[in-house]
Amino acid sequence: VTGPDLAGRHVVISAGGTREPLDPVRFLGNRSSGKQGYALARTAVARGARVTLIEANTGLPDPAGADVLRVGTAVQLREAVIEAAADADVVVMAAAVADFRPSDYAPGKIKKKDGQDAPVVSLVRNPDILAEVAAERSRPGQIVVGFAAETDDVLVNGREKLRRKGCDLLVVNEVGERKTFGSEENEAVVLAADGQETPVPYGPKEALADTVWDLVSGRFQPNSSS
Ligand code: C5P
Repeated sequence: VTGPDLAGRHVVISAGGTREPLDPVRFLGNRSSGKQGYALARTAVARGARVTLIEANTGLPDPAGADVLRVGTAVQLREAVIEAAADADVVVMAAAVADFRPSDYAPGKIKKKDGQDAPVVSLVRNPDILAEVAAERSRPGQIVVGFAAETDDVLVNGREKLRRKGCDLLVVNEVGERKTFGSEENEAVVLAADGQETPVPYGPKEALADTVWDLVSGRFQPNSSS
């Protein structure tokens, strides 16, 4: 699409959705397909970046030219992202991270027994990886990008979330059972901490990815890194 404007840059992208196990056969999960994160990885490779893709439960084939790490849970994703971010010019959190995980893991399959009440699942908070990476900025000039799927008041909630998470760019889109998840297309607004708002019309996930990279490369400091 564009020139190799990401050459010499290391970008770390998370994709997919975490799964939080209840027992050896069950988990709490979400509908994220990972396709937007993979589109970001493919387009970043095409624009010359060194790409570390950290994927959770997508089942998608590795994009050519990217280093791929596989994780399952939010805690594993956090560990992989924090480690990779130490050396990253850009971190993009496209993964759908479970906000909560079951507080207990049953080492054997949970059974139903006649006459017994249904089990109660209690949850604990997962770490907010995006907020942590944005607060840390392990490399000077590092650019941190988040995604926010909202079902209503998309822009109002998005602006608030951008501030709360402390990231540079937040890609907000409207989701529902029939929208975005698993699809090849997306429609979004990219909100920037400096107030710029870039609408991206309905189209291929690659087009949204390229808009994100345009906005990222326009924000690089002249001599940050390699
Ligand atoms: O708060 P919410 O889940 O809507 O925020 C979405 C953004 O935050 C995404 O970029 C997602 O990858 C990131 N996130 C995270 N850690 C969490 C929850 C969300 O990094 N525990």
